[in-house]
Amino acid sequence: MDRIAITGGAPLKGAIPIYGAKNSALKLQAAALLSPDPLILDNMPDLADTRFMVQLLASLGVEITWIKETRTLRLHAAEIGSTIAPYDQVRKMRASFNVLGPLLARVGHATVSLPGGCAIGARPVDLHLKAFEAMGADIHIEQGYVKAAALRGLKGAEIAFPFVSVGATEHAMLAAVLAHGDTVLKNAAREPEIVDLADCLNAMGARIEGAGTDEIGIRGVTSLKGAAHRVVADRIETGTYALAVATAGGDVLLEGARADHLQALIELLGAAGVAVESEPRGLRIRRNGGRIQPVDFETEPHPGFPTDLQAQAMAMLCSADGRSRIRETIFENRFMHAPELARLGAQIAVHGNEAVVTGVERLIGAPVMATDLRASVSLVIAGLAAEGQTVVNRVYHLDRGFEKLEAKLAACGAQIERQKED
Ligand code: UD1
Repeated sequence: MDRIAITGGAPLKGAIPIYGAKNSALKLQAAALLSPDPLILDNMPDLADTRFMVQLLASLGVEITWIKETRTLRLHAAEIGSTIAPYDQVRKMRASFNVLGPLLARVGHATVSLPGGCAIGARPVDLHLKAFEAMGADIHIEQGYVKAAALRGLKGAEIAFPFVSVGATEHAMLAAVLAHGDTVLKNAAREPEIVDLADCLNAMGARIEGAGTDEIGIRGVTSLKGAAHRVVADRIETGTYALAVATAGGDVLLEGARADHLQALIELLGAAGVAVESEPRGLRIRRNGGRIQPVDFETEPHPGFPTDLQAQAMAMLCSADGRSRIRETIFENRFMHAPELARLGAQIAVHGNEAVVTGVERLIGAPVMATDLRASVSLVIAGLAAEGQTVVNRVYHLDRGFEKLEAKLAACGAQIERQKED
């Protein structure tokens, strides 16, 4: 297993290109199953997760052409060859579950493994399944598999989610576009990835209104055509590098980043004493001297502070000039990075879903272990500011969501390298 070694202390200076969003790309890839014509996705991130989705789609009969140099992925689901997504594939990546809705909508049946829990929480899919049932699908769970059928097609429905779920909102959209009649999603998630998916589906001929608000209306159509769509810039990648610059100090332009998708983070950085400027080419982040100021925050559905940036913000606050409080409201087990950050000398007390971070003047490098995708990058961020060497083990988690992480940071002056294990 590879490791990443970082020698801390160097400020970051230069520019970092922001790639397409993983969390958007995975759902856009699933959308290709809805049309017999090709879907061309531009700005496609080349990550373990997106490669994995490509493999799954290929096993369902989708013809794939991925031109990595131009970051263009062409998906052509002329025929659906299989409607089964096996345990081994869904277990490795939860977003694989998202093929269920498109298969059900296009073919009328699908058998997809239940994803199971993951390191950050139980993560059930009950809201997804209730949405399909409301659209008239028969759903049975047998031996860990969801068997779904709507042989005469799905019917539009009014679906009021009891709480906000990004995945359930997207999945319901992916099915409702080909249902008979109108669907209304109430208490829908408002993440930029939802808007991106709606834009792509509309380019394919769907009729979706209200994406980005808490009520989404979908008028079902009988078929979808091909389209070309550019994957939205990754706001979590953007936020991660912004927090890295804030923590290590320096001056970096995040090229292609969108300030309008990161208002909660920009407010937090401002309160912490970090300068953020929106420029025509992206977002510029600057911190030259002076300690980070402590900030209290809680994670919330968009437009609140994203749970996917909580670990990285905690890493920054470990060396703040005072005490910060963090409340995690989305996932029940998302402070696993705290004991690893403590190995670098951070002072963090976790009580249930609250963490109190008492800033120390300087972290000291140490070997640490990555536990999940966002947690692992928080350890890299902490390592950039720590004295001496930090070695992050189990970096395969990082490879799921960050493309060229070491190269992008090294180009800005970080002392960081990947060590291959024999
Ligand atoms: C997506 C993102 C993930 C991000 C999360 C919240 C992808 C691939 N992943 O995950 O990076 O952290 O949004 O912004 O896009 N829940 C249920 N039942 C359901 C569905 C969800 O109880 O049927 C719960 C979850 O366990 C969680 C909460 O609802 O506690 C929110 O989860 P959700 O918004 O659905 O997250 P994901 O779509 O899984």
